[in-house]
Amino acid sequence: MSHLDISPGATVLDVAAGSGVPAFHIAEQVGPNGKVLAVDIHTHQVLRSRSRQGRHLPWLQFEVGDMRQLPPDLPQFDRITGNLSFMFFRPNRFEALRSLVRFLKPGGQIVLTFPSLGTFDSLWNQVNRAMTERGFESERKALIEYIEERPSADQARRWLEELNMEKVEVVDYPLEIATGPGREFLEHPLLRGGFLDDIYECFKDQRLAEEFMTNLSNNIESFTPLIAQRCAMSGWLPI
Ligand SMILES: C[S@@+](CC[C@H](N)C(=O)[O-])C[C@H]1O[C@@H](n2cnc3c(N)ncnc32)[C@H](O)[C@@H]1O
Repeated sequence: MSHLDISPGATVLDVAAGSGVPAFHIAEQVGPNGKVLAVDIHTHQVLRSRSRQGRHLPWLQFEVGDMRQLPPDLPQFDRITGNLSFMFFRPNRFEALRSLVRFLKPGGQIVLTFPSLGTFDSLWNQVNRAMTERGFESERKALIEYIEERPSADQARRWLEELNMEKVEVVDYPLEIATGPGREFLEHPLLRGGFLDDIYECFKDQRLAEEFMTNLSNNIESFTPLIAQRCAMSGWLPI
């Protein structure tokens, strides 16, 4: 949020809006003369945000939509943002970024955040070692493909520059994620959704995945401390 330059009256598109926490905050900053459109691909997220909103901040609107393929008749915005969004620009992140930037007004700013390459490397290394020891070849291949596909801060910078954006800033903010063993690790809200599920997805046999993950969760000393790299990427479209 500190990278996003917002003033009262601005129009803002918030992608991957989730349960709306950033969107509510932005709507308070733009005030009644501004407008915020918050988009999420999952209907349940949008419904939850709308019910939380009630009659408050009527210049904030929650809608269902895929940020990679927004309707072409959408207007352009002064700002586009998306906290923890860029990792979902798969499979072609550059194309998805290019198509999103079409909805930015000349002179407008885009700020996206994502966990960049380096995030939880100690975990991926331990999973890789454990899969190697147990001879899980196809699972390990899927893991390596997943690791190689993650975007880095350098990659994000190059893409913003390729789109001719100005004042490009890409910054990693390391953060240690504390966890205990067992279910505390397996059900950790920051790990389960985006990261541990990716390990489960490497397995065709989900019972084997469960057993593998349970072993892992009882051996957290082999991959802690767990460090996330929270990356913020920001660029301005020339006027
Ligand atoms: C980690 S949450 C972030 C939520 C919010 N930005 C926040 O900071 O609290 C990611 C959200 O991205 C949404 N999402 C994933 N792929 C998407 C897509 N292609 N288009 C729009 N939203 C998407 C998910 O439904 C989820 O709510």
